[in-house]
Amino acid sequence: MTLPLAIDESAYSLVSPSSSSIPNPETPLKLGVLASGSGSNFEAVAAAIKNGQLNAQIQVLIYNNPSAKVVERAAKWNVPAVLLNHRDFSNREELDLQIIQCLQHYSVDWVIMAGWMRIVTPVLINAFLGKIINIHPSLLPSFKGVKAVEQAIDAGVKITGCTVHLVSPEVDSGTILCQAAVPILPYDTAETLHDRIQIQEHRILPPAIALAANLNLK
Ligand code: GAR
Repeated sequence: MTLPLAIDESAYSLVSPSSSSIPNPETPLKLGVLASGSGSNFEAVAAAIKNGQLNAQIQVLIYNNPSAKVVERAAKWNVPAVLLNHRDFSNREELDLQIIQCLQHYSVDWVIMAGWMRIVTPVLINAFLGKIINIHPSLLPSFKGVKAVEQAIDAGVKITGCTVHLVSPEVDSGTILCQAAVPILPYDTAETLHDRIQIQEHRILPPAIALAANLNLK
């Protein structure tokens, strides 16, 4: 599928593919969101659903960090929130098994890792094969893993960004769905740069979910 680009001059960013070229799924997607932090991407997905940009429903939020602010956002949007604290499990596979049980209980068919800071294992990946989506704050395949924004600054690159991709067993390596480029400005700190990257994350995550659903139909 060849899709056009969109240039957003006001935000100094370049997004590919353009969201206007991605059809909204015909039947509502049943999403389960996994998040560990502030939940601004959770909010972006919820808002896109509300304004009709994404035909979906968030069935459940799973969070692993008891103090994560995302839980307040879930309450605001009337989304059930389930705490699965990784510290309560002896290994990653045990946590993933519990996540699967929870996602199945809420009839989830697409899993959105929106700031989920845990490595997932083949146990979860195989249970939702091709239906797990992750957002990462760099232009993959550059700067995989933790502290991606700091890695980009330290490397001295002039352009970084964010990527939405399908999850595969190798960390931050699955099929790329959508990317947005963000220039690194001379005065940037990790915080100022991450703030600008997040504006683009919120822009590309909802259409990337729609794109994944469309590709899945083919
Ligand atoms: C986002 O910037 C996301 O790209 C990043 O965590 C942040 C969560 O923000 N994810 C990763 O670094 C995963 N490797 P949010 O809680 O405000 O959505």
